[in-house]
This record gives sequence, structure tokens and C-alpha cells, in this order.
Amino acid sequence: MTRIRAGIVGVTGYTGMELLRILKNHPNVQITYVSSKSFSGKSMNEVYPFTLQDKVLEDVNAKKIAEDCDVLFTALPSGASYELVKELPSMKVIDLGADLRFDDASIYERWYAKKLTDYDRTKRAYGLPELYRNEIRQVNLVGNPGCYPTCVLLSVAPLLKEGSLSDKNIFVDAKSGVSGAGKKEELEYSFCEINENLKAYNPVIHRHVPEMEEQMKKLFGDEITVTFVPHLVPMTRGILSTIYLKSDLNVDEVYKLYCDSYEAERFIHVLKPGIYPSTKWSYGSNHMYISFAKDERNKTLIIIGVLDNLVKGASGQAVQNMNLLFSIPENTGLESNPFYP
Ligand SMILES: NC(=O)c1ccc[n+]([C@@H]2O[C@H](COP(=O)([O-])OP(=O)(O)OC[C@H]3O[C@@H](n4cnc5c(N)ncnc54)[C@H](OP(=O)(O)O)[C@@H]3O)[C@@H](O)[C@H]2O)c1
Repeated sequence: MTRIRAGIVGVTGYTGMELLRILKNHPNVQITYVSSKSFSGKSMNEVYPFTLQDKVLEDVNAKKIAEDCDVLFTALPSGASYELVKELPSMKVIDLGADLRFDDASIYERWYAKKLTDYDRTKRAYGLPELYRNEIRQVNLVGNPGCYPTCVLLSVAPLLKEGSLSDKNIFVDAKSGVSGAGKKEELEYSFCEINENLKAYNPVIHRHVPEMEEQMKKLFGDEITVTFVPHLVPMTRGILSTIYLKSDLNVDEVYKLYCDSYEAERFIHVLKPGIYPSTKWSYGSNHMYISFAKDERNKTLIIIGVLDNLVKGASGQAVQNMNLLFSIPENTGLESNPFYP
């Protein structure tokens, strides 16, 4: 049996902790390295007693990582991973931030205001297994997609690949639980500001726009414009994206196209017309649900995608990518159902 020694940098964050939860139950994995800047020297049990892990948190140290790990997950804010990745030239790395996600470094540099030196020499893949499985198998470095891009791209990919759009503008109204922002101390994320409240944030200028547009261009073969309005919802986890686009296909044709495209996919579930998912369906699981409606009066196709931002939108998908890198079944360690209710 393949044994994988895994390290997590940034383990104390939300995606880091989700990685720890999933990897603890992964039959091939032994967690050999965890790091934290804020809690270095303390054990996981001291920082988070419910992890039931006495592993000691270390400083980030490339030499130690290279000795102790076969794979490294970097669960850091975007911009914080790239230099570390460069210090580990032969290590398999899955970065949960945006540092390895873009084909065109200049797009990243414009939106994230940071330079990526020698990026062209870095062979990497965009870690969306349902679309790029073969590419992921051939690299050491994976840029794990953003949570919204995962939801939106999987929701539109079959249509784009088929060329079944009659207008190159796509409108996305997306809702996310607050964990999507990571661990934050700012007032706007405090209980009274979030509870019983709903608001849009960063409409049109959210950093996930260029990521979605770059990937959609690859799928469709031409520029697509994404008008994206994310909203913060008073729940802990979950994303629901409602996507509006123009297509001549009717809802039954779309349903058939998606069933054919995702037939072999373990984690993508296409719902019959008239059935609509809610975020609880994927809460704590790696499963994603997609459904459709069509307003035939104006040829608007509505696609609704639902996933858990911390699992299929981040750490579950990262483990799916790890399974591909080590040629073990893609669903290993990822089979759990959602928490319900
Ligand atoms: N939250 C989501 O739903 C989600 C989904 C998809 C992708 N992502 C991406 O995944 C990455 C991690 O997100 P998150 O939500 O887990 O963030 P988070 O909760 O803020 O955790 C990030 C962790 O990184 C460590 N850290 C912060 N700044 C650092 C630095 N400069 N150098 C080294 N370590 C640093 C911190 O831990 P210590 O202080 O203990 O070191 C912190 O706990 C981000 O790039 C995010 O965009 C997040």
C-alpha cells in the first residue's frame, strides 16, 4: 500500500484544519509535519484540544519539510506560498491559495499585486480533477482552485466545452458562508455584523473573476465575461451559486448533456429538472450538486451549483488532487456524507 507522508503549512487556519480532519482518516496518509507562525512550539492539543493530536507545530522550514514529507499542502494566504514552493523544487505541493492557479502570471500579478519570479519555469496544473485529471497526474505542483471558481466552473463546464452559449456574458450571483473569508478578527466578520444579515461584497472586482475567466476561455475557446456578485450569508460553510447565461438548449437537453459529462464523476451530482439543492446537502462533504431551470421567454438558462467551500471548494479537492499525484483511487479518504441536519 502506498504510504504518503504529508505536511500542512498553515494548519491552524480553516482550510488547514479541514485538511487535518480529512487526512487523519485517509488510509494512505501519515501526517508528519504541521506548521504555524503564531503557535510554533505548541502541540496541536494545546491550540485545538478537539484535534486529539499531540503533534508539535513547527516553524516553516523548507529543509525539514523536504526530509519529513512526500507531499506538502500550503494553506496560506495568497502570496505567502510561492517562495516556499520555489525552495522545494522536487516536492509535490498542493497550494490552496492563488499562487499557482494562473496560466498567465501577469493576471495574477495585476490582481494580487505580487510578482511571481521564474513562474514560466514552474510546471504546474490547475487542480480541478473533473476537468484536468490527466494534467494533474503529470506534475508535482498543483494550484488548487478557489472555492467560487470550483463551484462556477463545474457548473458551466459541459456547456462551454460543447460551445452551447449564445452570448459570451455570464452572470453569477453567489452566496457563501463566512468561513470562506478564513479566520478573521475584523469587525465586519463579528457575530452581530453577520448574524441575521445579508450583504454583497466586492461585486465585479472579486479576485475570483480573473481565475474564472481564464479557465472559461480555455474551455470555450474564446473570451467570456463573468459579472460576479458574491454575498456573505450568516452560515458557517457552504456556497450556492446561481448562474445566468443565454443558451438555445432547453432544460432537458442541458440535463442530458450534464448527465453524460459527469456520468463517471464520483463527486458531481446532476439533479433532475425541478429538483434544487441547498447548501446543507454538501455540508462537510466533497460532493457537489448542480441543477437547472430555463426561462424560455428570454432564453436564459439558470444553473444552480452547491458545494462546501472548505471541502470540494478547498481541502477535499486538495486531497482529491493528492490522490491523483500518488496514483491512488481519487475518492480515497473522501467518501463521507454531509452532516445532517
Ligand atoms: N476559507 C475558504 O473557504 C477557502 C476556500 C478555498 C481556498 N482558500 C484559500 O486557502 C488559503 C487558506 O485559507 P484559510 O481560509 O484557511 O485562511 P485562514 O483561516 O486565514 O488561515 C491561514 C493560516 O495561515 C497562517 N498564516 C497567515 N499568514 C501567514 C504568512 N504570511 N506566512 C505563513 N503563514 C501564515 C495562519 O496560521 P499561523 O498564524 O498559525 O501560522 C493562518 O491560520 C487562502 O489562500 C485562501 O484564499 C480558502
